[in-house]
Amino acid sequence: MRIRRKPWARPELAVCDFFIDFPNAYKGKWHSIFAKQQPIYLELGCGKGLFISTLASRNLDKNFIAVDVKSEMLALAKRNIEKQYNQLNQPVANVLLTAKNIEQIDNMLGREDLVSRIYINFCNPWPKARHKKRRLTHPKQLEKYKIFLAQGADIFFKTDDENLFDESIEYFNTMGFDVVYITRDLLSSDFTENIATEHERMFSEQGKKIKFLIARLK
Ligand SMILES: C[S@@+](CC[C@H](N)C(=O)[O-])C[C@H]1O[C@@H](n2cnc3c(N)ncnc32)[C@H](O)[C@@H]1O
Repeated sequence: MRIRRKPWARPELAVCDFFIDFPNAYKGKWHSIFAKQQPIYLELGCGKGLFISTLASRNLDKNFIAVDVKSEMLALAKRNIEKQYNQLNQPVANVLLTAKNIEQIDNMLGREDLVSRIYINFCNPWPKARHKKRRLTHPKQLEKYKIFLAQGADIFFKTDDENLFDESIEYFNTMGFDVVYITRDLLSSDFTENIATEHERMFSEQGKKIKFLIARLK
């Protein structure tokens, strides 16, 4: 996604209490840097943070790590999180934001971090054959996630892209996950706890059906 350069983004993140500048330094120690010891949920490619700000503020009994590669996105996510928590009159104690290329996520999360859930929302579909290994659901990535996922952990995956969705089902099945929930029309499904992301709103307004699944590590 293209985003205009924001000269204020990096300085604002640098003084943000819940932004982690050097995520690799916390590999194996993420539980210890949250205020409370509770399950960790991870969002990969959080964008402007509409989803994580709503999800985390509704679930104060969980800890959240939201990752994106772009400072501009993270800075907007930071503002959205602050806005949400201010409205609830709550300190931001259960969310951490960090900048990281997810293709190297295994440098920042290790076996001891025991992540209970991953959210992947509207990742790049990388349709060309030679680019598919960059998909966030590609077996190469799933292999890395399995290192830090807790036993029985879930991956919640949403996309508008039919081909990415179909091929991801195969990826999950061959990589030791059970697909325990699946719908090709999320808005008409019985999954009532959905929180829309920026892209989801845009695609839904265009009349596109949102595909969603939950894959559970065996
Ligand atoms: C299409 S946007 C989706 C944003 C949001 N999840 C949503 O549903 O609206 C994809 C996001 O993932 C981030 N992203 C893409 N590839 C990434 C990577 N390899 N590492 C970290 N972030 C990445 C982009 O910067 C962008 O914010």
